[in-house]
Amino acid sequence: MTSDEIRRRFLSFFKARGHAVLPSASLVPENDPTVLFTTAGMQPLIPYLMGEQHPQGDKLVSIQKCVRTGDLEDIGDNRHFSFFEMMGNWSLGSYFKDEAITWSYQFLTSKSEGLGLDPNRLYVTCFEGDTNATKDEKSAEIWFSLGIPKSRIYFLGAEDNWWSPGDSGPSGPDTEMFYDMTKKGLGDLKKHEFLNAMQREDVIEIWNDVFMEFQKKDGKVIGKLKQQNVDTGAGVERITAVMQRKQTAYETDLFESIMKKIDDFSMIDNMKQKRIVADHIRTSVFL
Ligand code: ALA
Repeated sequence: MTSDEIRRRFLSFFKARGHAVLPSASLVPENDPTVLFTTAGMQPLIPYLMGEQHPQGDKLVSIQKCVRTGDLEDIGDNRHFSFFEMMGNWSLGSYFKDEAITWSYQFLTSKSEGLGLDPNRLYVTCFEGDTNATKDEKSAEIWFSLGIPKSRIYFLGAEDNWWSPGDSGPSGPDTEMFYDMTKKGLGDLKKHEFLNAMQREDVIEIWNDVFMEFQKKDGKVIGKLKQQNVDTGAGVERITAVMQRKQTAYETDLFESIMKKIDDFSMIDNMKQKRIVADHIRTSVFL
């Protein structure tokens, strides 16, 4: 499946479920002095996640161009990019965990409407609970009811399963989806085996559903938001690599023509250096 087809399917899947399709907002945020660049699909939507009414309704979908500079030193490995696109769907006080997780599962696995991925290669993580919020049994139950065995659902702490755009703003526990990229398939994994597989990049994170019902200020959770929101993010680069059965997006149609030009115009034969040039040119062009 081409990257264009992946984008098209994502937007039409959520459009068919009542979401308004938003264009990608500017990479340089408007009216947000807290960041230099748009770093996530939710960034342009922060006022609405905080409770303002969005002119296009309470269910939104977009493919947002993003720039993250935090990982700049890691560019050149298999999975870091300074520019990337994030597919996301949002509920602004409309649906919550049931629909969000069910639709994520359906999009990932449906052959006709979604990506047709193998459900037996999916693993999920849920929030294990802390002083800010209780253990997210509800998300785990929903995954189980969709057919993910308990032996592939793991509970992890806030460093893995809590998301916020920075020290302040809307935030909440999340549930993350992982896909087994190995040839043979890993099957059921104990928690420590799953964590090791993640380290080896045998399983990679492909989507994150954040249940944004909390507000953070100066690094601390200070209470609940006016409404229960959903904020999701799936990287086009990672999903394309999975769909085209590549270890890295640098080997997919997203980068093919850029890599070829670099070969035509330069004498670089070090793969890491080529990837850095490709990544930085893409980022510069879109900025
Ligand atoms: N905002 C969430 C993320 O960037 C979905 O992972």
